[in-house]
Amino acid sequence: MRVLGIETSCDETGVAIYDEQKGLVANQLYTQIALHADYGGVVPELASRDHIRKTLPLIEAALEEAHLSPSDIDGIAYTAGPGLVGALLVGSTIARSLAYAWQVPALGVHHMEGHLLAPMLEENAPSFPFIALLVSGGHTQLVRVDGVGLYQLLGESIDDAAGEAFDKTAKLLGLDYPGGAALSRLAEQGMPNRFIFPKPMTDRPGLDFSFSGLKTFAANTINQSIKEEGQLTEQTKCDIAYAFQQAVVETLMIKCKRALKETNLTRLVIAGGVSANKQLRHSLAELMQQLKGEVFYPQPQFCTDNGAMIAYTGFLRLKQGQHQDLAIEVRPRWAMTELNPINN
Ligand code: KG4
Ligand code: ZN
Repeated sequence: MRVLGIETSCDETGVAIYDEQKGLVANQLYTQIALHADYGGVVPELASRDHIRKTLPLIEAALEEAHLSPSDIDGIAYTAGPGLVGALLVGSTIARSLAYAWQVPALGVHHMEGHLLAPMLEENAPSFPFIALLVSGGHTQLVRVDGVGLYQLLGESIDDAAGEAFDKTAKLLGLDYPGGAALSRLAEQGMPNRFIFPKPMTDRPGLDFSFSGLKTFAANTINQSIKEEGQLTEQTKCDIAYAFQQAVVETLMIKCKRALKETNLTRLVIAGGVSANKQLRHSLAELMQQLKGEVFYPQPQFCTDNGAMIAYTGFLRLKQGQHQDLAIEVRPRWAMTELNPINN
């Protein structure tokens, strides 16, 4: 079976083809980052319009990359939520229309389930059960995963997602949106221990997160530094980036450790845009070595939004006969725990 996957939930147009025998045979990505840069964030209407421009050419490019024609495609998977409603509607409408024309089944995929299953595309894929730390621009969640569709939410952010906190702090440091990756590059030159940021909600039990206070702490630290130094020097920016990143990484580590202990599990999966963060990957690898467990993450290009994770997730579900009728339905808000399991 070959499945075409289409991702258009936010500011990346991703198209990929997953082949049951060969694995991933095409992966095309177009990022709208430059389009939104002047606005300091994603402008939903511009995002939708750009998905309209880019999705069909990317589908053509994916077919060409895999040396396939439409008649070789057995099913189409598209992101149906969560995400920006207009952006989701573009991908869904194109996917549904093509499925109708090509007479193949189509299925709406949950974006976060896509992220969660992205590590399965790697050679060293995790087996069930495991704990997943999902850290993206819109979500921060700890999930117990007993199989595809068998998800128990253990904890989540009560305010900003980790990626959102990275982006907001990056903006305060004068970096372009989305500044998560750029902030982590500044942090590489940062001096340890010049600033110490709090680790929110780690001093009380539970697995929920709160990251909005870190942005305020960063703003106060920046104002104080400007008062003392007259301006924000490059080194101070790096030192603040370092302290911020350290606080986020340590907070995530503490909660992962707690989740593993509470569930008695030994495998940890991290996915979503922030899982591309080198410091987070490094620290969690060390933690899992100490705990004699294993950590799994997608290769960096599949941490952030992409079509491959949607093609793969869709393949797992379409293969079991799941699909939907012709109605085009998207779900901008959608809890992953509502998904039905497949026969794992
Ligand atoms: O998963 P994703 O591509 O989109 C959503 O589903 O939200 O995640 C995007 C988020 C952004 O907030 C971005 O700044 C963050 O992931 N991100 C990073 C890094 N790379 C991407 N944050 C920290 N360090 C990175 N290296
Ligand atoms: Zn995402």
